[in-house]
Amino acid sequence: MRHAGVLFLTGFLAMSASWAGFILAPQLQLGRESMEPVTGGSELYPQPRPGLAAQGAAVYRANGCNQCHTRQVQQVGVTTDVILTEVGTNQAQVLSAFKLLGLSLADNPLTGLPRDLLRGVDKKRADFAQKTLEDAGAKASVQVRATGPDIARGWGLRGSVARDYLQDQPILLGSQRLGPDLANIGVRKPDATWHLKHLYAPDLVVTNSTMPPYRFLFETRQINQSPAADALVLDGDLAPAPGFEVVPTVEGRALVAYLLSLKSDVPLFEAPFSAPPGAQAAAGTNTVANP
Ligand code: HEC
Repeated sequence: MRHAGVLFLTGFLAMSASWAGFILAPQLQLGRESMEPVTGGSELYPQPRPGLAAQGAAVYRANGCNQCHTRQVQQVGVTTDVILTEVGTNQAQVLSAFKLLGLSLADNPLTGLPRDLLRGVDKKRADFAQKTLEDAGAKASVQVRATGPDIARGWGLRGSVARDYLQDQPILLGSQRLGPDLANIGVRKPDATWHLKHLYAPDLVVTNSTMPPYRFLFETRQINQSPAADALVLDGDLAPAPGFEVVPTVEGRALVAYLLSLKSDVPLFEAPFSAPPGAQAAAGTNTVANP
């Protein structure tokens, strides 16, 4: 073994280069991520999950929900929209700004505000349109919108980023999509009753659903004086015998609390978007992202 030293060094370098690439670099980039204020607001994101929802994460994991569901919205890029919010006093001038920008003057463009003027244009064109309209005394807002097939499906308002998973241990990204992505399901379907029914019998709420039922997350028990508030309303074959009711077990309730806590609807520095007008109040945050 005349070249033992060289061999050792080569092996060592190969190992340390991959360690540096796969472990050290990501750790340096993301290892110190912490809760941060959402863009344009003061609320910190992501908040720890409330107790029941944290228990639900374990139920989600134990039942292998991540075998069929991802929790990662993919984003391809961003695009910009221009929305006219105020017309100002000099309408003639605003109309000539419209002409200058090549916008349609059909069906009285100065009514029905806020109004979409340009959709999916690049930032430069949007800024130019905003400036031209503001010079004419009108007000326009430039909105940043994430794009990509997942966003078009309505699975989220922006792509998922590392910060979204800070409160998860282990992180259940999922890799197969037999069912829809659940990254933002708490916002998309905020109704606990819907989720309970869906887990008990998916095809009761989604026609021809191929999701398996999770009946063991429920129990049938005798009604104690009056039915429980979260007893399922079932008819036909699934209806329990008279005097009995179907209620979620602690696991069932925790799982639904977890699903409702899956929300990635706030703009972050690394994942900016402008919240659609009106959505801010619902999301509970004050958000207009700066790109
Ligand atoms: C064998 C694959 C499979 C497994 C495992 C599975 N699901 Fe599903 N899931 C689906 C399919 C397919 C759909 C779409 C049809 C539907 O909505 O019922 C779906 C839909 C959903 C929806 C509605 C999503 C939407 O956007 O409407 C939720 C919520 C959901 N699943 C939660 C769960 C939970 C929680 C678990 C674990 C207890 C789970 N799923 C396990 C296949 C699966």
